[in-house]
Amino acid sequence: MDKIKKYTNDEITVIWQADLCIHCGKCAKGLSEVFKPQERPWVDMTGATTEQIVEQVEKCPSGALSLEYNEEEKDETWDATPIEGTPDVEVIPNGPLMVYGDISIKDKEGKLIQKTKRTAFCRCGASANKPFCDGAHRSIVFDD
Ligand code: FES
Repeated sequence: MDKIKKYTNDEITVIWQADLCIHCGKCAKGLSEVFKPQERPWVDMTGATTEQIVEQVEKCPSGALSLEYNEEEKDETWDATPIEGTPDVEVIPNGPLMVYGDISIKDKEGKLIQKTKRTAFCRCGASANKPFCDGAHRSIVFDD
C-alpha cells in the first residue's frame, strides 16, 4: 500500500507520496524551515509562506511532493442546488476547476487515483502536476 502523508495550513495541503520519493533532499536544501527530514512530522507548514512552500513543492523532481489548494472561499452568489450523490463542480475565476465530493480519476497512464472531499483540476495548462492544480496559475497570471 502506498504511504501518503498530508500536511496542511490554511490555504494548501502538501501531499508526500513516500513510494515516489528519491530522497534527493532538494526540498530540505531549498526550504529547510519547512522540510526537516530528521524531525517528525518532517514537514512544518508554519515554517514559510504558502507561496514559498508552493514554489518549493513545484521543484520536487520525483513528484513525491505535490499539493492541493484547500477549499477556496465560496462565492455567496453561487446557489446551485446540488444533485444528491454527485460531486459538485465549480469554476474558480482565474484558477482551477474545483470538484467537491469523492471521485475516481484515471490518469493518462491509466492509473486510478481516488480523491476525497475536494480536488482542484488545472484549467490554465501550467501545472506541473496535471491534471491537478499546483498553483502555477498564479505565477502565469491566468485570466479566465
Ligand atoms: S489552474 Fe492552477 S495550475 Fe493551472
